[in-house]
Amino acid sequence: MAKLIARDGKEGAMQVCETKEELRKQRAAMTGRVGLVPTMGYLHDGHLSLVRAAREQCDHVIATIFVNPTQFGPTEDLDSYPRDADRDLALLRAEGVDAVFLPTPAQMYARDAETIVEATDLSRVLMGRLRPGHFRGVATVVTKLLNIAQPDAAFFGQKDYQQLCVIRRVVRDLDIPVAIHGIPTVREADGLAMSSRNVRLDTGQRAAAPALFAALQAGQAAIAEGRTIATARARMRTVLSQADGADIRSIDIRDAEDLSSVTGRPTRPVVLLLAVRFGDVLLIDNIVASPKEP
Ligand code: PAJ
Repeated sequence: MAKLIARDGKEGAMQVCETKEELRKQRAAMTGRVGLVPTMGYLHDGHLSLVRAAREQCDHVIATIFVNPTQFGPTEDLDSYPRDADRDLALLRAEGVDAVFLPTPAQMYARDAETIVEATDLSRVLMGRLRPGHFRGVATVVTKLLNIAQPDAAFFGQKDYQQLCVIRRVVRDLDIPVAIHGIPTVREADGLAMSSRNVRLDTGQRAAAPALFAALQAGQAAIAEGRTIATARARMRTVLSQADGADIRSIDIRDAEDLSSVTGRPTRPVVLLLAVRFGDVLLIDNIVASPKEP
C-alpha cells in the first residue's frame, strides 16, 4: 500500500484539507483503490462502520465532513445540527483515514452556483415529500464530492435508504465511474438506529425512540408471515401509537429495489420506512423484509 507523506514529513499522518485544491493534490498522490466516505460530521459508530468497510475494500480512505446547507429546508435544523470537528478528526485518525475534506460552505459553493443534480422522480416520494429539495441538495453535493475526490468506491449507510437509492440512480444516470456500497445500519443496544440527531432527544423521548425499530420488526414479521402490506402497516402503527410523544409522519412499504408502490401481498422484497418526530427531532429508520415463499 502506498504511503502519503504528510506536510510535517511524517509518513502516514492524516491530512486535513480545507480546500478542493488540497484534497485533489492528496488524491493525486494516492495509488491503488481509493474509498470515499461522505458525512456531515458529529460521528458515531454508524459512520465509523462505513470507514471500516472502506478500509477493508480500498487502499486509501478519504472522509468528508460538511454540513451541507443545500439539503436543509428553511425551517430545518441547519443551525442546530451538532458539530464537533476536533472529536471527529480524532476518531477518523484512529480509524486510519488518509485524508479528510473539511470545506466551508463558501469553499463548496460559488456565490452564483446555479447547477443542480436531481433524480426527479425518486426525490419527490417518501422523505422527499416531507422535505422538498432535500434530495436535490444531497445529489448535488455528493456529485460534487465524487468529482473532487474521484474515488473508486463510495460508502453510504442503508440507514438513509432513499438517499442510497437516489445516489445509485444519479451515479448510473450520469455515468459517474464509482462503485457505490450500501452498509447495514448500526444500532444502539436497544435497537435505536445511531444518528447524529439522537443527542437532541430528551430523556423521555430517548426512552420512547426504540419504538421505531420495534415497529419495523413487527412489520417485517408480518411480511415474512405472508400478510398484506395493509396488515404490516397497521401492525407498525399499533406499536408506534404506544410510544410516548411519537408523532408519526409517515409509514411506507415500497419495493426494495426501486421504491415503487406495492399493494396486496408482496412477491418481492420490500422496504419498510418510518419517519417519526419526537418534539422537533425527526427520526427515520427502515428495514428490508422478504415475503414468505409461495
Ligand atoms: P450523515 O447523516 O452524516 O451520514 C453520513 C453517512 O453515514 C450516510 O451514508 C449515512 O447513511 C451513514 N449513516 C448514518 N447513520 C448510520 C447508521 N446508524 N448506520 C450506518 N450508517 C449510517 O447522510 C448524510 O450525512 C448526508 O446526506 C451526506 C450523504 C453526507 C451528503 O451531505
